[in-house]
Amino acid sequence: MIEIAIDGTAASGKGTLARKLAEKYGYAHLDTGLLYRKVAYEIMIQNKNTIKNINYESCKIARNLNFLDFKSENLRSEEVSNLASIIATNNKLREIMDFKQKQFVENNKKKFGGCILDGRDIGTKILPNADFKFFINASIEIRAKRRLLEKNITFLHENDEKCMLQSLINDMNDRDRLDRTRLDSPLVPAKGAYIIDTSKINANELLEKVSKIIERT
Ligand code: CDP
Repeated sequence: MIEIAIDGTAASGKGTLARKLAEKYGYAHLDTGLLYRKVAYEIMIQNKNTIKNINYESCKIARNLNFLDFKSENLRSEEVSNLASIIATNNKLREIMDFKQKQFVENNKKKFGGCILDGRDIGTKILPNADFKFFINASIEIRAKRRLLEKNITFLHENDEKCMLQSLINDMNDRDRLDRTRLDSPLVPAKGAYIIDTSKINANELLEKVSKIIERT
């Protein structure tokens, strides 16, 4: 089975790339950010202010995570994203997540010709022997604009849009910094990863570029 590891910064296009590749080649796909988001969401609905030990609670939630149970809630809000990044610094939680991700690969080995995981530490930690590793990035301005478009908000005033964009830039910069500087599994390109900047290319162009790399090898 072919293993493809895709890492990168927030809203860099790695998730869309992973989905499109999985569709194109009929491979299994796991968006590993969703695991961290789900735990963050559960903490939020339990009201994090009343939770004394977030690390303990997040491990407890993670142990009972069900991969098939993710669709309904709003896991993509900025509040969830920021809390996901905070709990993701806990090495005990990461151990549990590592196990779940490897279990996903193991379970799909016989069913699919390939497996694609996207996240922050896939090439460095989860699939260090992956057949292909990609590290996706883009300028912060472009990434924030993409995130804003995903939200599909109609603004009455131009200033409101500018404020929202600036707030996204700040949030994403903070999150990238935390992801890059944490001690356990920081966001860095894996050894041998193809590093691709998507600031000037769209999702289909990225898919084409990556497909060429996979198919020529
Ligand atoms: O979609 P976006 O790139 O904004 O975020 P995500 O991939 O859903 O991940 C949300 C957060 O979870 C990240 O900022 C990381 O802190 C954490 N995460 C991680 O630590 N390791 C992973 N393999 C995936 C996500």
